[in-house]
Amino acid sequence: MTRHKLTSSLVLVPGLLLDHALWEPQIAALSGICAPWVADLRREGSIATMASRVLAEVAAQPFALAGLSMGGYVAMEIMRQAPQRVTKLALLDTRATLDTPEETARRHELIRLAQAERGFAPVTARMLPLLVHPERVSDEPLVRVIREMAERVGVEAYVRHQQAMMARPDFRTVLPHIGCPTLVLCGRQDALTPLERHEEIVRHVRAARLVVIERCGHLPTLERPHEVNVALRDWLLGP
Ligand code: MLT
Repeated sequence: MTRHKLTSSLVLVPGLLLDHALWEPQIAALSGICAPWVADLRREGSIATMASRVLAEVAAQPFALAGLSMGGYVAMEIMRQAPQRVTKLALLDTRATLDTPEETARRHELIRLAQAERGFAPVTARMLPLLVHPERVSDEPLVRVIREMAERVGVEAYVRHQQAMMARPDFRTVLPHIGCPTLVLCGRQDALTPLERHEEIVRHVRAARLVVIERCGHLPTLERPHEVNVALRDWLLGP
């Protein structure tokens, strides 16, 4: 058996309404080769302060950095603020571009819904078909993990994060300055941040590799953990 020494610290950044449970399968599979740490950004109200909190809380320097969706926006902002601290970057199910007017309207509507109900049942019902592959919308164990994350994040943080994303900058300006090995990964059927958005990132980052996970939506770490673990292991152990 090949033994790997702990190669690096791995900083994991979850997306909207998601927390450490998003990364549990990766933590279980990769702890032998790295020291994983999951950011908790529930108190932050802008992408810039989310990035500076991660940079302040992570003692390790430098570190490997992976972010999914809103976590990808935070990871790109970290690349703007302190690229020298990041050895490797993984952007999962995210995008560099701004929202369309329809997406902004949907955010306002979802905020209204969450505040009116003081809970996430209607928000999750509305979002689930956009979050997971159509074959998984009735996958009870998976849906339960998603619901429980939403409850832990809570309405206040949800609203703060939606507002933070509406005010986020266009990260296309950051991409050409990213010099570290970069894994860009997405579910083939990601309906929120589709494959084209990832192809666009790959075109603008010098050392980027695209991995597409088949029969998978916006949450590959939970929908297809094995495939994601293989891709992250290659990325961590690769040059
Ligand atoms: C996320 O999953 O973090 C968000 O859906 C991303 C977004 O709404 O732009």
